[in-house]
Amino acid sequence: MTDNNRVVIFDTTLRDGEQSPGATMSHAEKLEIAGLLDEMGVDIIEAGFPIASEGDFEAVKAIAQQAENSVICGLARANFKDIDRCYEAVKHARQPRIHTFIGTSPLHRAIPNLTMDEMADKIDETVSHARNLCDNVQWSPMDATRTEWDYLCRVIEIAIKAGATTINIPDTVGYTAPGESADLIRRLISTVPGADEVVFATHCHNDLGMATANSLAAVEGGARQIECTINGLGERAGNTALEEVVMAMKVRNDIMPFSTRIDSTKLMNISRRVAAVSGFAVQFNKAIVGKNAFAHESGIHQDGMLKNAETFEIMRPEDVGLTETNLVLGKHSGRAALRSKLADLGFELGDNQLKDVFVRFKALADQKKEVYDEDLIALMQVGSDVEDRIKLTALKVSCGMGLEKSAEMTLSIDGAETSVTATGDGPVDAAFNAVKQLFEHKARLQVYQVAAVTEGTDAQATVTVRLEEDGKIATGQSADVDTVVASVKAYVDALNRLLIRREKSGGDTPEVSYKDVS
Ligand code: KIV
Ligand code: ZN
Repeated sequence: MTDNNRVVIFDTTLRDGEQSPGATMSHAEKLEIAGLLDEMGVDIIEAGFPIASEGDFEAVKAIAQQAENSVICGLARANFKDIDRCYEAVKHARQPRIHTFIGTSPLHRAIPNLTMDEMADKIDETVSHARNLCDNVQWSPMDATRTEWDYLCRVIEIAIKAGATTINIPDTVGYTAPGESADLIRRLISTVPGADEVVFATHCHNDLGMATANSLAAVEGGARQIECTINGLGERAGNTALEEVVMAMKVRNDIMPFSTRIDSTKLMNISRRVAAVSGFAVQFNKAIVGKNAFAHESGIHQDGMLKNAETFEIMRPEDVGLTETNLVLGKHSGRAALRSKLADLGFELGDNQLKDVFVRFKALADQKKEVYDEDLIALMQVGSDVEDRIKLTALKVSCGMGLEKSAEMTLSIDGAETSVTATGDGPVDAAFNAVKQLFEHKARLQVYQVAAVTEGTDAQATVTVRLEEDGKIATGQSADVDTVVASVKAYVDALNRLLIRREKSGGDTPEVSYKDVS
């Protein structure tokens, strides 16, 4: 295999993924995910959009300082202010990259009301400016797949001449199909002067469920960078899922002879962490990382599997970091057993993380005789609350047939404890009313979902709560053997994430989005 078959993996979970409504991550969570991406072998991490807020800037800067192997990239619209701010954040990395973009399709050109010539000049100026700051510059014609062919070739040529080192071709609205995707890249590479001096990248959205196929087709056409996110996180139907393109090229290397630097055994762990910190659970039947991706329940499948695992498995669970063990933990299990069990499940923890998880594990084992794999996964999906402004410290509910439903609650808000007793239609309603009285807010409950982690009446409940306030959305999650406690913790988690969103937008000023025109 020649180097020409090496595909660069560009992960944008922390930028395109995090910008999707409800997927807010805290500073510490972003750093944790960036660390895992770096360790897993991601070539380039798009760490955020530095101009968007002080919080975004600080996160990109901290990720740049922390990165060991990955190139750290920030996003910037086509103006000097965005580009300067972006460089200020990424310059701390060993290998920084500026990614600047502008919408080039007729619909996107109409928003800033620029003529084709005016936009071409803007591209020349801004890419040159970025290149004067940084040797590694990526340029994207947003909505490339709906941009006129001649104009697309023209602006790409300008960007290359101005110093772009990577040309990314976004399918911003998930409109293209695999044949077209391959053809577009192939034709661009053979038509645009200077194309052989840069790397072509593909950035696909999944609106028609074709993002993975389109990205792989683009590679067939000559692209050598795939932009993707963990679990396919991203706005609307999301982006190309990193785990899917990586495993497709690995398992079907016979027909897609391309290589990446990704250690696939780390996929399961990072998938679970991203699900936990974003609040976006992975669907059970999701390719590669879904709970059922390696489960064989029907009789016929089980029989085949027992005779030969290859009957129904095209890859081994351990290839993606999933190992089965029968060891059930309980309240006498020690730290070493917990660490080893979590490692089997794909979670590799540092000492401090283990300390925190062990405390939560002990609390769970006190409530539940046997702690199963699913319980531990749920435990890991509840993030650490060190940065939380609001914490639940006490809760007592009373309910029953013909009785008044009430909740007596204490919250710690910015370190000060306050208590109240509230009533409601049911225990959860009463508890949520108590939160509202203790911490006044006008967020609207959009989703309240409860699921049992395992079978049996002592099962933990995992609860998801989605809140909306002034167009900002945040999702919170929690798990507990007590459904009302899990519900309140999930509600409080969503509120804490809304507060991060509020801070990000500086109170009343609206958040800057990459979709805003520069
Ligand atoms: O989808 C898109 O076009 C983008 C660009 C900013 C690259 O995310
Ligand atoms: Zn995108």
